[in-house]
Amino acid sequence: MLQQLAFLLALSALALGALHPPETGHMTPLVAAALDILDEQVSPSQSTLAIIELIGKGEHRDHEQEELMTTIIAEVGDSMALRTFQAPPQDVPANYVLFLVNSAEAFSTLSFDFTEMHSTREYNFLILLTRRMSSRAERLQALRNISRTCVSFHTLNVILLTQKNSGVVLTYGYRIYNQNCDLNLSLELIDRYENGSFQQGHQDRTFDRVLNSLAGCPVRVSWYPLPPFTIFKGNESDPEERAQTWRLTGIDGELIKLLAEIFRFRIILEEPCDKCLSRDIKDGCSGCFDQMINNDSSILIGAMSGSHQHRSQFAATASYYQSSLVFVMHMDTQLGAVAQLAVPFSAGVWLALVVSGVLVVLVIWTWLRISTGHPDVAAHALQVLTTLMGNPLVARSLPTNGRMRVFYAAWLLLVLVLRVVYQGKLYDSFRLPYTQPMPGQISELIAANYTLISQEYLDFYPRNLTVLTRNGSRDRFDNIQEHGQDGRLTTTSLIASMSYYNLMHWSTSRLTHIREHIFLYQLVIYLRRHTLLKFAFDRKIKQLLSAGIIGYFVREFDSSLFQDTNIEPHEVSPIPLEIYCGLYYISAILLGASGIAFVLELLSVQRVNWLRRYFE
Ligand SMILES: *[C@@H]1O[C@H](CO)[C@@H](O)[C@H](O)[C@H]1NC(C)=O
Ligand SMILES: *[C@@H]1O[C@H](CO)[C@@H](O)[C@H](O)[C@H]1NC(C)=O
Ligand SMILES: *[C@@H]1O[C@H](CO)[C@@H](O)[C@H](O)[C@H]1NC(C)=O
Ligand SMILES: *[C@@H]1O[C@H](CO)[C@@H](O)[C@H](O)[C@H]1NC(C)=O
Ligand SMILES: *[C@@H]1O[C@H](CO)[C@@H](O)[C@H](O)[C@H]1NC(C)=O
Ligand SMILES: *[C@@H]1O[C@H](CO)[C@@H](O)[C@H](O)[C@H]1NC(C)=O
Ligand SMILES: *[C@@H]1O[C@H](CO)[C@@H](O)[C@H](O)[C@H]1NC(C)=O
Ligand SMILES: *[C@@H]1O[C@H](CO)[C@@H](O)[C@H](O)[C@H]1NC(C)=O
Repeated sequence: MLQQLAFLLALSALALGALHPPETGHMTPLVAAALDILDEQVSPSQSTLAIIELIGKGEHRDHEQEELMTTIIAEVGDSMALRTFQAPPQDVPANYVLFLVNSAEAFSTLSFDFTEMHSTREYNFLILLTRRMSSRAERLQALRNISRTCVSFHTLNVILLTQKNSGVVLTYGYRIYNQNCDLNLSLELIDRYENGSFQQGHQDRTFDRVLNSLAGCPVRVSWYPLPPFTIFKGNESDPEERAQTWRLTGIDGELIKLLAEIFRFRIILEEPCDKCLSRDIKDGCSGCFDQMINNDSSILIGAMSGSHQHRSQFAATASYYQSSLVFVMHMDTQLGAVAQLAVPFSAGVWLALVVSGVLVVLVIWTWLRISTGHPDVAAHALQVLTTLMGNPLVARSLPTNGRMRVFYAAWLLLVLVLRVVYQGKLYDSFRLPYTQPMPGQISELIAANYTLISQEYLDFYPRNLTVLTRNGSRDRFDNIQEHGQDGRLTTTSLIASMSYYNLMHWSTSRLTHIREHIFLYQLVIYLRRHTLLKFAFDRKIKQLLSAGIIGYFVREFDSSLFQDTNIEPHEVSPIPLEIYCGLYYISAILLGASGIAFVLELLSVQRVNWLRRYFE
């Protein structure tokens, strides 16, 4: 019996040997568990895996760890490219790293250099503690020590494996926020590997056991007030009112409240802050960015840009919305009702009309003076004017001379055409709010010497036309409104913010933006560098985006999407002729009726007596 078993074992070992490269020794449960996890979660999606072997100072590689390494390389080498390290590398070499560590001290020899690029990547560590620990307390202490080192690398996605003397492999993860909201970690036994299989389904031991609850811990939120992104209903300098989070609203405000609900943290709203962008204003301004760097603020909202100069000091989440940055200026809209009458023709045409009218009067006057000797200038001027207005002639009889009649007909035709053209154009000019032409491009703004009121110097606007200010967009809009079009002031703003201002001041605001947009702003939330919140927020923001929930906030607050900001006043669609169908129909009937009446009257005059009686 025993012999048969040994034979079977040898046979199975041979079969395994045929499938895989020759192995040194049998696979320990620790390796088997690690391979299971790699098979499940890493090799399907990844092409590279880094393996880092770490040994405490003064120790040397023991036989067991060497064997583990060989087995893993032999097993995984087919499905992924492997990079192995026997000394701690400078950077984290891949997104997925497998550590073979014999003690916590060995792990603490690691020191990664997180450059800017690396701080935005998410890493996953699978850590095999290769040395058997004699007691539970010792094991937990080592694991806790390793976890702390991982947290110092801002890595949450960690699975720790350790094998008990009984051959059972324990799988641990850790959570960051405990009840007291200090940054302490608590180890969590996720799964056991026993008799060749895990006890739980694989969802329970994914790397992605991300932060899903901050257990009601407080998180400080700084905000830059910029409607419609952040709006505060109430007195924002009153700490009591700031504690009532329902008062915070707007696109960013609603989003952060939703995130707080999802991740279960409590928002502690700071006082509204200033951006303090330009260092050229020497006023010792201390703003949002300082609040994030010096004070305990973890989140900054208020239409923060994904491409801003300050972004390198922070971690930015994925972009949740885009809005165009535009130049805003004042535009006088309506001319007066009387001035509108002059609009259909340009100044040149009016001048030509007046000059030719005067010429006609002069010609008639000189002609009459030569022929009769007593001309009446006023009467003739009146006659020309009334003809131009389309009124009947006051002449008692038409000239009998054929050539004169041709001139006369041409003159009448000209007047008719002129009148019709004017009427048509007048109709059009009343159809739209007539606006004076305004710059459509940034270069035109510069050429027209518009002064830019801005919080910082911009690359694309000359410095000698820029006035720096600390004023927020609202004050700048007020300022432009106040100075009107002749002030020749402009400022940059997000289109959403301008639309919101126009909506709030719909009866007085004359702000509009020039047609050329500066660029599309990617709106993000700023977090502290190396924060553990980043990847959790990113994932959730992407989900909220694709679920249309952020779109819903946008619909609620960003009116620029739906409002026509009378930016293109000259694009008026032509009136389709079909509209006049009914009119043509009626006038055709009237014309037909009057034609019949005319014919009948003609007949009645010449022959038909009873008709004449009838008409009389
Ligand atoms: C881990 O333990 C070693 C020695 O026991 C200690 O020097 C080190 O500071 C510990 N690391 C952490 C992160 O607690
Ligand atoms: C962290 O938690 C452990 C127990 O889980 C506790 O012993 C330790 O004092 C805590 N550390 C801090 C700084 O609160
Ligand atoms: C594993 O096997 C041992 C011995 O064969 C048995 O006692 C134990 O109950 C098994 N454990 C599980 C979880 O199946
Ligand atoms: C807002 O609150 C602050 C602090 O409580 C107070 O000093 C200020 O007068 C309040 N402003 C208004 C407009 O009520
Ligand atoms: C930081 O907080 C302290 C006290 O909480 C406050 O006095 C200081 O003004 C804050 N600094 C900034 C930049 O907000
Ligand atoms: C703009 O300013 C420059 C320099 O002061 C001047 O030469 C130019 O004529 C100005 N242009 C307009 C349109 O006022
Ligand atoms: C601004 O500076 C540019 C070049 O330095 C110059 O051409 C332009 O005339 C200046 N404009 C004004 C308004 O001073
Ligand atoms: C900034 O705002 C203040 C008060 O609202 C105003 O007096 C000042 O003129 C503004 N400055 C600029 C450059 O707009």
